[in-house]
Amino acid sequence: MFDPPSFSSSPLSAFAIPPFPVLLSSFFFIVMTIILTPYWSKGVQRLKPASPPPEKLRHGLVPSAFNEGVHAERALAQLRGKDQPLEKYIFLSRLKSDDPDLFYKLCLENMAEITPIIYTPTVGDACIKFSHIYRRPEGLWVSIKDKGNIKNVLNNWPRIDEARISVVTDGSRILGLGDLGVNGMGISIGKLSLYVAGAGILPQSTIPICLDLGTNNQAFLEDPFYLGLRQKRVSEQEMDEFMDEFMHEMTQAFPKMMIQFEDFSTDKAFRYLERYRRQYPVFNDDIQGTGAVVLSGLMNAAKLSSAASGMPLNAHRILFFGAGSAGVGVATQLQSFFTLQGLSVEEARRRIWLIDSQGLVYESRGRLAEHKKYFARNDYSGPPMTDILDIIDYVKPTALLGLSTISGAFTPEVLQLMAAINPRPIIFPLSNPVRLSECSFNDAVVNTNGTVLFASGSPFPEQEFVGRVLYPGQGNNMYIFPGLGLGAILSRATQVTDSMVEASSLGLANSLTEEEHAAGLLYPRVERIREISAHIAVQVIRAAQKANVTHSPELAKMDDSQLHALVKRKMWNPSF
Ligand SMILES: *[C@@H]1O[C@H](CO)[C@@H](O)[C@H](O)[C@H]1NC(C)=O
Ligand SMILES: *[C@@H]1O[C@H](CO)[C@@H](O)[C@H](O)[C@H]1NC(C)=O
Repeated sequence: MFDPPSFSSSPLSAFAIPPFPVLLSSFFFIVMTIILTPYWSKGVQRLKPASPPPEKLRHGLVPSAFNEGVHAERALAQLRGKDQPLEKYIFLSRLKSDDPDLFYKLCLENMAEITPIIYTPTVGDACIKFSHIYRRPEGLWVSIKDKGNIKNVLNNWPRIDEARISVVTDGSRILGLGDLGVNGMGISIGKLSLYVAGAGILPQSTIPICLDLGTNNQAFLEDPFYLGLRQKRVSEQEMDEFMDEFMHEMTQAFPKMMIQFEDFSTDKAFRYLERYRRQYPVFNDDIQGTGAVVLSGLMNAAKLSSAASGMPLNAHRILFFGAGSAGVGVATQLQSFFTLQGLSVEEARRRIWLIDSQGLVYESRGRLAEHKKYFARNDYSGPPMTDILDIIDYVKPTALLGLSTISGAFTPEVLQLMAAINPRPIIFPLSNPVRLSECSFNDAVVNTNGTVLFASGSPFPEQEFVGRVLYPGQGNNMYIFPGLGLGAILSRATQVTDSMVEASSLGLANSLTEEEHAAGLLYPRVERIREISAHIAVQVIRAAQKANVTHSPELAKMDDSQLHALVKRKMWNPSF
């Protein structure tokens, strides 16, 4: 009854009516706002006083033996009763709009179970089928047809004053799935749910945005249900003009907004991050978030590795298997590991080696792609070295990182060799999804006699090995972006500087409890995400203050414990 068929059958009509406030009577406003930003309504079952309909309607609408605690159990049982992950996704998406407090309560209490449904891997499936499972608006669509008029589209967002963070995708490279066009909206929605769950960002301050710049996905262009424009992607120049207008209007419409770019194709991801990062508070999770979370895991792994080998931290040697822009992006960020130990940037660069499809990357090998040149070695000039075993023998890395999406590339021989030259080898197969991982946790444990310091991009189960339980690390961006976003918002940062990203990484690395250290973990338990995010946010705010990019002089006067208390106070909690 609160989702009248006349509206729910054509909810997009809400977007078709320009200037929002002018045309709407208060009745329409309430109905529309429920449809557009359903977090204003509470669960129909509970009908909390703040929500429509009015208090006097409550009696008789709530079953007489209704109990909130039992209802949370009921919702969880309903979720678990569905056997297809996509059905679970649809169920949770509906629950989020019906009853956001209950949705987020379940997320927070069942993090490890629910995150893979609302985000990777299931969100990938949901994106592929987004135009088929689509039910109601949950975000803002800005298309190339809006060029010249973007301001008006943004101004249609109903709670414009509360907006603080948006995740923006152009759908051009969704996860490992390629160009999904406007079906990428699922990624923006899912990511923002994690910001809310992970850092208590206010649900109504989030705006998922999907840019429709066409798609080169032929199947979608021919799909009658596809929700986007039936045209190929626009030229780079046209996209630049569109993006310039979009970014400008975003900061006009939402002056307190942090913008997170998500899942742009790699070249565009680097291009637009570089283009806007000194001008607007923008952050790219694929590039900076991944770099930060890997750096954090490496810091903790290197300490354990050095404790076993006696090698100083600044003497570690990192070998990257995979020199695509993702690999090089992470390598670039990992230079901080060494500069934090007092090395110069040049010295840090020398402690990193790359392997691409033709083997070791070195200057005299021949023409190199632009992005590989920075890390190309000039201390080797022999014949091309193509065998990873020969390269390991030559480099003697303490850490081997995989960003190749080549399944099984870290063979038993590779793992055994790493274990032979390191008392505790660092092995990070970072490729997603699981089936493209360079090795499994089990392989790594068995072939290193349990000495491995392991973190992967995708989750692996823990392993028992000669009477001990060993836990894999998962370098999940989820550890970083919620706290980084919260810190940026609270400090009203005008930019997201490298130093803020590095601070988030350090904050994560030193957020482990005694118990987590004792269990040999490289990352804290994700169930503690709120604590971790608060800790990270404080570090990020301090870094923003040092970089002089904040608009929050009052925070500068606080000491760390006051600031920490403020951050925790600012976190939204589900009232359930
Ligand atoms: C494997 O590790 C155990 C201790 O955990 C040690 O006793 C054993 O000698 C090791 N085996 C090899 C082949 O290194
Ligand atoms: C900080 O930024 C403000 C305004 O951008 C500027 O006036 C001030 O001089 C800067 N302070 C420092 C220490 O850089």
